Amino acid sequence: MENKISTIGVLTSGGDAPGMNAAIRAVVRTAISHGIKVLGIRNGYRGLLAGDVWEMKSKDVSDIIQRGGTILQTARCRDFIKPEYQERAAEMCRVFGIEGLVVIGGDGSFQGAEKLANLGINTIGVPGTIDLDIACTEYTIGFDTAVNTAMDAINKILDTSSSHNRCSIVEVMGRHAGYIALWCAIGTGAEIVLMPEKERMSNKEIIKNIIENKNRGKKHFLIIVAEGVEGYHELAEEIEQVTGIESRVSVLGHLQRGGSPTAVDRMHASMMGARAVDLLCEGKDKRVVSYVKGEYVDYDINEALKMTKNLDEEMVRVSRILSVK
Ligand code: ADP
Ligand code: F6P
Repeated sequence: MENKISTIGVLTSGGDAPGMNAAIRAVVRTAISHGIKVLGIRNGYRGLLAGDVWEMKSKDVSDIIQRGGTILQTARCRDFIKPEYQERAAEMCRVFGIEGLVVIGGDGSFQGAEKLANLGINTIGVPGTIDLDIACTEYTIGFDTAVNTAMDAINKILDTSSSHNRCSIVEVMGRHAGYIALWCAIGTGAEIVLMPEKERMSNKEIIKNIIENKNRGKKHFLIIVAEGVEGYHELAEEIEQVTGIESRVSVLGHLQRGGSPTAVDRMHASMMGARAVDLLCEGKDKRVVSYVKGEYVDYDINEALKMTKNLDEEMVRVSRILSVK
């Protein structure tokens, strides 16, 4: 492996995700093992623009693999969408001698990374988002932890819902993506799952489904809704009015983004973080690290951002079949 670079930067950007710390740790320790200096950049692109940068040593990433959040902090930086700020950030990389930048984040963060790459700063993307909505990869860091956290909360809601013979509508995260909702629906046996990628089932159809299930002997009902789907408060009222089944809405919110990462997240984060540095050492540029068919691979960042992703229709089909009593 050729080692052409002496200094790299690492930042986390967009929504945080459990496992980002494990990825930072992997980046720092892999780089140090190659004799490369690592600059940690606080608060994503906002911190890069401000030159909020410090040299990270191996001990700086001790005791973080088990922690949720990101020790580098993260941010959403609107200015970065403007070319003048991207140029300023590229200049900041040159000022600090950053020859390769590892960006841990979601699709939006990768678009920023693509812009920097096109300005001559070598960037490597590591997929970090609980939403699992990055097209080029079958896994994004944080998803497994988020799904397990959500399922744990839904199990608790189901305890009380079944005691009261109620219908529970639970909103999980995913403004533009239904993966958390779909996995939770299969994992908890929800009767209905509503996701932004799919045409919204009408209230009439949902109520018909509930009545049919009630007639088959079901005593409580669970509807999982991804954040991006609207109108479920009204749905709860309508279910109650039409069927007489008491209905309650729970919004799980940001608890899904926190917590200690699962083994799955620690593993992917460690492997992907290490891979990002290896790519830089190999002299590759403008890449996104991905997990495809059981292997860690990488794609050109411009190509990766052109890819599209659809929900797994087989999972959608199975979720419908398995919830029928
Ligand atoms: P995520 O990375 O989780 O998808 P966002 O979509 O909020 O989160 O993006 C994170 C940050 O990436 C934004 O705040 C912005 O700084 C940067 N970014 C997003 N889209 C673009 C874009 N089209 N061009 C440049 N930078 C972008
Ligand atoms: O991290 C992804 C995500 O959780 C989306 O599902 C959601 O739309 C968004 O972040 C909300 O993030 P915030 O409240 O930080 O803007």
